[in-house]
Amino acid sequence: SSALPSGYTIRPLERSDFDHGFLDVLRVLTHVGQVTKDEFENRFDEMKAGAGGYHVLVILDGDAKIVGTGALIVERKFIHHLGLVGHIEDIAVAKDQQGKKLGLRIIQALDYVAENVGCYKTILDCSEANEGFYVKCGFKRAGLEMAHYY
Ligand code: ACO
Repeated sequence: SSALPSGYTIRPLERSDFDHGFLDVLRVLTHVGQVTKDEFENRFDEMKAGAGGYHVLVILDGDAKIVGTGALIVERKFIHHLGLVGHIEDIAVAKDQQGKKLGLRIIQALDYVAENVGCYKTILDCSEANEGFYVKCGFKRAGLEMAHYY
């Protein structure tokens, strides 16, 4: 089946989601810091500005608490006849909600958006420890990540 567990829903991130546990879910992934509601709302507004291209999804449990999230960023290119490339970023499922296929559903939903907006591929970076998860989501190893931290 390709459904969420009973009572769970998936939808785009909303400006009011600061109050629904959004940043706490991201803390499963990495350091978030003490972001204020104002700062969250400003960043949310920036992502909506201009041509956009940010698609942040959240999964809510039966109590309307955010238990999973993921983002697709659509990159506009000149190459490949003005092609579009999807970038999957910041996938996180609350610790006590892992193993219920929520991660898989987030990736499937982001993949669906990517294909429908016309991306010719979607790429992501992950650790070796997460490779198996992305293989189960239909991705395969390609290329090599490099980084320059500031
Ligand atoms: N290695 C191998 N297989 C895995 C792993 C793993 N690390 N994690 C899940 N799987 C498998 C599951 O067993 C399941 O297999 P099945 O269909 O045979 O039962 C399948 O992948 C789907 O798993 P889900 O239940 O959808 O996974 P979950 O909801 O627990 O989400 C996730 C996986 C997002 C990696 C979660 O464990 C998490 O939030 N981890 C911490 C944050 C993190 O590392 N995020 C990813 C960073 S990379 C990025 O954002 C691009």
